[in-house]
Amino acid sequence: MAPTLRTGILGCGGIAQRHALAAAQLRDEIELVAFCDTDADRARAFADQHGAADAAVFTDHHALFDRGALDLALICLPPFAHADEVACAAARGIHLLVEKPIALSSHAGWQMVQAAEEAGIKTQVGFMYRFGAAVQAFKQGYAAGAYGQAGLFSARFFCNALHADWWRVRARSGGQLVEQAIHLFDAMRYLLGEPASVFSRQTNFFHREVAGYTAEDVSATIFTFPHGGLGLIYATNGALPGKWIKEWRIVTRGLLAEFSDWNHATFTPTTAPGLAPETITSEQDVFVLQLRDLVQAIRTAGETRTPLREGAKSLDLVLAAAASAETGREMILD
Ligand SMILES: NC(=O)c1ccc[n+]([C@@H]2O[C@H](COP(=O)([O-])OP(=O)(O)OC[C@H]3O[C@@H](n4cnc5c(N)ncnc54)[C@H](O)[C@@H]3O)[C@@H](O)[C@H]2O)c1
Repeated sequence: MAPTLRTGILGCGGIAQRHALAAAQLRDEIELVAFCDTDADRARAFADQHGAADAAVFTDHHALFDRGALDLALICLPPFAHADEVACAAARGIHLLVEKPIALSSHAGWQMVQAAEEAGIKTQVGFMYRFGAAVQAFKQGYAAGAYGQAGLFSARFFCNALHADWWRVRARSGGQLVEQAIHLFDAMRYLLGEPASVFSRQTNFFHREVAGYTAEDVSATIFTFPHGGLGLIYATNGALPGKWIKEWRIVTRGLLAEFSDWNHATFTPTTAPGLAPETITSEQDVFVLQLRDLVQAIRTAGETRTPLREGAKSLDLVLAAAASAETGREMILD
């Protein structure tokens, strides 16, 4: 059996916990040997909870990559904190999982893609929706032409929380679309292909009085597709406290597909009244599947489902929506 992949985590916060638990499900493949956070206590706590007996702790990512002897790193930094970590890892041949959004500017995102592709490392961006059973079922049926062309994609991202301090500051998180609803933008691209244009309205409606809260908390974004279909993604951070609702629908010429999450959907044929729906239900862990897909690509020199290039494309789409909201103009996409 191949030796386990010596793996480090950069950014030991909320989502890193989720990835550490996923790594524990793959312990035949992955050994967590190094943890890096600017807050040394957080890195130490991760090492104690998830690390190998001799796990190392760092507070600077250059030291992590220089001294960690890593095969793989899980980059779980907040959006504003991305710097040269992808370039540093790529230069050492270290494979990467990078959380979304991969950067806050298109230029920075595509620099990451270039560094990774030139070095030939394997990368996976944290768009785990792509690994859901319902998402995969639709993807396969749609690609096979079983449902007819899509005329409408509609999705909502509803929550109501103050989140981390960095999250509220648009310059640090990118705002609700860039940081959160990007999952839905990516799912739309993954399932239906690239839109041709985007028009967005975004406002801070519910948190105007909260000091330092500059992210948008209400938005509506519409897309056109080259074949004439439309997309709509609407989001707010003013809905139900303590609840995160992410759901979407796709109407094709022959099907109404209603997703309550990546693993659960109802597919109802629309070619005649009263046809029986197909229900997709799964409890599969998309974080484990996402990490396993990356390990598999490393082991077989294959491709991951969501390489950095896909992360840059979805970032470009949310940034185009932001630019549309700022200028009041529809953005025509390449
Ligand atoms: N895939 C998902 O569903 C999902 C869910 C939550 C968060 N995320 C993404 O994961 C990223 C992190 O979010 P989070 O909620 O875990 O944030 P968090 O604030 O909980 O954790 C971030 C950690 O990074 C550390 N950090 C900040 N700057 C650093 C630096 N320069 N070097 C080393 N460590 C540094 C912080 O001290 C903190 O411990 C964000 O991009 C977010 O969008 C993805």
